[in-house]
Amino acid sequence: MKVLSFVLSFVLLLPLAQVNAQTDDGAIINYGEQHHPVIDADGMVASQNEIASRVGAMILAKGGNAVDAAVAVAFSLAVTTPRAGNIGGGGFMLVYLADSKQTVAIDYREKAPPAATRDMFLDADGNVDDERARFSLLSSGVPGTVAGLHLALTKYGTMRWSDVIAPAIKLADDGIIVMYDMAENLRMKRDRLTLNDAARKAFYKENGDLYQAGELIKQKDLAWTLKQIAKNGPDAFYRGAVAKKIIAEMERGGGLIDAEALAAYKPVERMAVHGSYRGFDIAAMPPSSSGGIHVIQMLNIMENFPVSRFGSGSADYVHLLTEVQRLAFADRSKHLGDLDYYKVPMQWLTSKEYGKQLAAGIDMQKARPSSDVAPGVEPMHESPDTTHFSIMDGKGNVVSNTFTLNFSYGNHIVVPGAGFLLNNEMDDFVSAPGVPNAFGMLGDVANEIEPGKRPLSSMTPVIVFKDGAPVLATGSPGGSRIITAVLQMLVNVIDFHMNIADATDAPRMHHQWYPDKLYLEPGFSPDTINILRARGHDIETDNWAVGSLQSVATDGVLYFGASDPRRPSAAAVGAKEVTCPLKVPPCATP
Ligand code: DON
Repeated sequence: MKVLSFVLSFVLLLPLAQVNAQTDDGAIINYGEQHHPVIDADGMVASQNEIASRVGAMILAKGGNAVDAAVAVAFSLAVTTPRAGNIGGGGFMLVYLADSKQTVAIDYREKAPPAATRDMFLDADGNVDDERARFSLLSSGVPGTVAGLHLALTKYGTMRWSDVIAPAIKLADDGIIVMYDMAENLRMKRDRLTLNDAARKAFYKENGDLYQAGELIKQKDLAWTLKQIAKNGPDAFYRGAVAKKIIAEMERGGGLIDAEALAAYKPVERMAVHGSYRGFDIAAMPPSSSGGIHVIQMLNIMENFPVSRFGSGSADYVHLLTEVQRLAFADRSKHLGDLDYYKVPMQWLTSKEYGKQLAAGIDMQKARPSSDVAPGVEPMHESPDTTHFSIMDGKGNVVSNTFTLNFSYGNHIVVPGAGFLLNNEMDDFVSAPGVPNAFGMLGDVANEIEPGKRPLSSMTPVIVFKDGAPVLATGSPGGSRIITAVLQMLVNVIDFHMNIADATDAPRMHHQWYPDKLYLEPGFSPDTINILRARGHDIETDNWAVGSLQSVATDGVLYFGASDPRRPSAAAVGAKEVTCPLKVPPCATP
């Protein structure tokens, strides 16, 4: 009781009620709210898969820090969620370090192989060959995940490399129970996945039958690969036994990833991009992801409007979001590309002045046709199925990580004998000007294919701070919808004062300039939809969900986790809770 009242009085002093579930009188739970985050005192992991979240929470409970847990979660997701968790893909990790109070941004995005060329996906008539760009070995960029996770662990972790990979090896070797999500997903993708012999061997029974929910799936080839990586480090993947298998597969099927391409891969540590919104500070990924810049740009525009007065779900709010997203995605098409190859005007795009200028052009009564919106021109005087997890440890460190193979199951090709899927991230480049990629994204020279370049991404891991202390880590899958899902999470928390579970569950919208359509999830009222139609919006309501947010928040005392209910099998798991899974004494010590 004493401990509880200490915690409660401490909580009372904190100004962060809106990211958590606290009420004004300091109670931790407000029973008037509709959705509730998971609560824990020792740290929290939110990911797309419950087993992976438990692995991470177990690492925290053993004294590992957020980065140790992140690396263990990432490798575990490669086993439990093969459609997006990966070692054959790439991603972005933001790490906040409590000791130095710095946020570092690790870019481990895939790179175009040295032999890649600008027009490699054009056929003889100059048309983009989608099949080649999305489902062939040419569609793979050089994977960055293994090198990126190794960089994160060796620089910012505390545990041994082999120890954080060990849980994933066990999951692959001993097997996992197939859940409905995995069974259904593999059923849906059977036609395409079984075209590839190694994918058929990895994900279907010997006779080609589907795994049913409740059955055991073992991934022995993947276990072999993970053991190689655990024993010999990233060298196993980029130079050693695993590299040999990747190269053999590329030679068999006409891919471009050779020994030179693999050996040259290096992840990069970059400065996080920073912005602010109504007294909160936001740290996000710089390019080669576009998400950080555009979330900050959109918040800068929205700061000029009384968003909380509009109200969540109102026609005014959805109209404003639509106009803001239209502007940001137009700029994305022109100005964003890999920083190492293209001078992205980051300062201008994320400046309050530019936000104000764009805000002035928004008519709150009328939708602007996308054809009237062009990417902005930088003033001359200025210088120049994915998966997310969020982790906070009890020492104040934070990880916000999004990684992917691009499509669910990438190009649907498994490296024979190595048991892992290859990405099809080359489709995130612009194959030809004016031709949209799989997510309908348009682009220009900033994002055309060049050897060694990283394709532009929408992945948007963010960390939000109040008075210098981290209060929220969030991110999502969903292609172009990642950016808009993350934006709405931040606005729900900051403007509408929702706790992170309510903020996650609230219906979301999406607009990306082209196609000029406003996508609405179920849950918006007919009145709102009628008003939006009257203002000129072309609305689609029967589309797929906007992202799957995995978020962790803290008030400095307790940790709050929320996993999006939009996709099954996800879970937030607390570090204290995981040591007593059945909540019946005596609890097992991990
Ligand atoms: O990097 C990107 O923006 C895309 N490759 C992400 C793909 C994605 O989110 C698919 N998942 N739903």
